[in-house]
Amino acid sequence: MNLKELKEEVKQALEDISDPKYLESLRIKYLGRKGEVTQILRSLSKKSLAERKKVGKEANQLKQELNHLFNKKLEELKMASDQQVGLDITQPGARVKIGHLHPLTQVENQIRKIFQDLNFSVLEGPEVESSHNNFDALNIPADHPARDMWDTFWLKDFDNLLLRTHTSPMQVRYMRENKPPFQIIVPGRVFRYEATDASHEINFYQFEGLMVGDDVSLANFKYIVGEFFKRFFNKEVKIRFRPSYFPFTEPSVEVDIQIPGKKDWLEVMGAGLVHPNVLKAVGYNPKHYQGFAFGGGVDRLAMLKYGIDDVRLFYSGDVRFVQQF
Ligand code: PHE
Repeated sequence: MNLKELKEEVKQALEDISDPKYLESLRIKYLGRKGEVTQILRSLSKKSLAERKKVGKEANQLKQELNHLFNKKLEELKMASDQQVGLDITQPGARVKIGHLHPLTQVENQIRKIFQDLNFSVLEGPEVESSHNNFDALNIPADHPARDMWDTFWLKDFDNLLLRTHTSPMQVRYMRENKPPFQIIVPGRVFRYEATDASHEINFYQFEGLMVGDDVSLANFKYIVGEFFKRFFNKEVKIRFRPSYFPFTEPSVEVDIQIPGKKDWLEVMGAGLVHPNVLKAVGYNPKHYQGFAFGGGVDRLAMLKYGIDDVRLFYSGDVRFVQQF
């Protein structure tokens, strides 16, 4: 068979193919290692130089042409089968949904970043605490009526272990192991044994702040807290302190903020100067050191920032909610 005939034969064969598998076997028949075109090229070694030149060139050309024809046919078959399954390859691809961080995590990350920029170290503490760290060392002895401020989940079968009701026990843990001056924040999950409603959950997130040194005062706190809220809301936020009571701070204040354009003052933090009894409990001399502590709610700030009116939404697991952030 000469090359021309061979080409016609292949063309003909390709015409009525509809099965890609059969196409492949045909390709092997002609272009494979033992295929007909390959054999023609091999047999050239026995021919004269002139013939080798002529036929060799033609055979190589044919090989290329056939390769092209096979590839084209393969494309055609693929397209046809795509259309059969209703696939329109000219459509833009479907966007792959990837997850993202929960709004509470986003807000907590932002809080961490702002305080790091203000030269605070970020630490975390355990969610299961001793009643000593959660209460006693914070100047709340067992018979103190202020214990009622924190409804507590106690661990069954373990004496004096509980789910921390606030992040304040990390004040105790940190001061026991470190000497001033320092400034830290401690974001973390806390637990309260309470009925839930739009503004109460049995677990939520707080961030504790603590700065202790030779003469750290409420004036330093005022600056830090003002800087924090300005950066958090990206606006000049008005701040006011109201007298309050916590067993572990003296004096104690509530921090209220007023966001520009809004009428209401919103309570966002408890704070104060670390009580001398707390300093004593961790082995500090209250005559040498003083500092401020504060505790804020991550959930509460996230609600204010995004205009969310029910804290339970954060824990609902409803993707329609979290997808909005
Ligand atoms: N731990 C307090 C609470 O959960 C908040 C607080 C922290 C107040 C530090 C003063 C100082 O209510």
